[in-house]
Amino acid sequence: MNSPDTVSNDLPRSDDAPSSEGSDDDAAKPHPLHRRLKSFVKRAGRTTDGQARAFSELGPLFLLPYKPVPLDLTATFGGRAGPTVLEIGFGMGEATAHIATVLPETNFLCCEVHEPGVGALLKRIGEQSLSNIRICAHDAVDVLDHMLQPGTLAGVHVFFPDPWHKKRHNKRRLIQPEFVTKLAQHLRPGGYIHCATDWQPYAEQMLEVLSAEPLLRNTTEGYAPKPGYRPLTKFENRGIKLGHGVWDLVFERAAST
Ligand SMILES: C[S@@+](CC[C@H](N)C(=O)[O-])C[C@H]1O[C@@H](n2cnc3c(N)ncnc32)[C@H](O)[C@@H]1O
Repeated sequence: MNSPDTVSNDLPRSDDAPSSEGSDDDAAKPHPLHRRLKSFVKRAGRTTDGQARAFSELGPLFLLPYKPVPLDLTATFGGRAGPTVLEIGFGMGEATAHIATVLPETNFLCCEVHEPGVGALLKRIGEQSLSNIRICAHDAVDVLDHMLQPGTLAGVHVFFPDPWHKKRHNKRRLIQPEFVTKLAQHLRPGGYIHCATDWQPYAEQMLEVLSAEPLLRNTTEGYAPKPGYRPLTKFENRGIKLGHGVWDLVFERAAST
């Protein structure tokens, strides 16, 4: 049976969840004050007592406030110099915490706008004594544009980004040519982008967009085998049991571009 702290662990997706910002149709229209379409809608969600406790006890240590100022990555991780991986949209942080455990030498800068998810990852950080994660509860596009310097990231993880199923919403998908160019520019030579999705049309779009980016090269032909560090999450396992497919894509920044 679910404990009170796990009831909200099912993460609805931006395009199939009731949104606190209006209907699905409203979601397709940029607010007049927005400069660009966002890849998410802020969803209502209950923060559990455990997540709230994690916010107050661990937030000051692991939350990185958004500021449009370039980050000193080593200082951000308490003086730990190491390769930095940016994760965009970690949801409830299940995969994030697992990967941070199996790759202890890597620093993970993780962006998520869903507040209960941020609380959930803070809670996991406490429970698993993780020191290599920092969370920015802000739009990753702004973080990339204003806090991260080109050529500095060892990797980018984008796992099961909102698929924005409806044709008229496809333009809200994260993996678009312009954004992929920006991600590639932020990778150091040899750095990688790892995307995963369970929505075949989005997998096809990812393959097309990543393959067309001149700074990147595919590490394999077509879709990649799931890298060992990425766990099968509860959500993914449920899909697999229902016969759904999952596609991983791993592209690298070429060494000499
Ligand atoms: C479908 S969920 C997948 C979550 C998780 N990666 C997983 O595999 O369960 C996508 C998440 O990405 C977040 N997201 C979408 N666009 C984002 C952005 N630009 N910056 C930060 N988070 C974003 C959403 O809030 C949502 O929680």
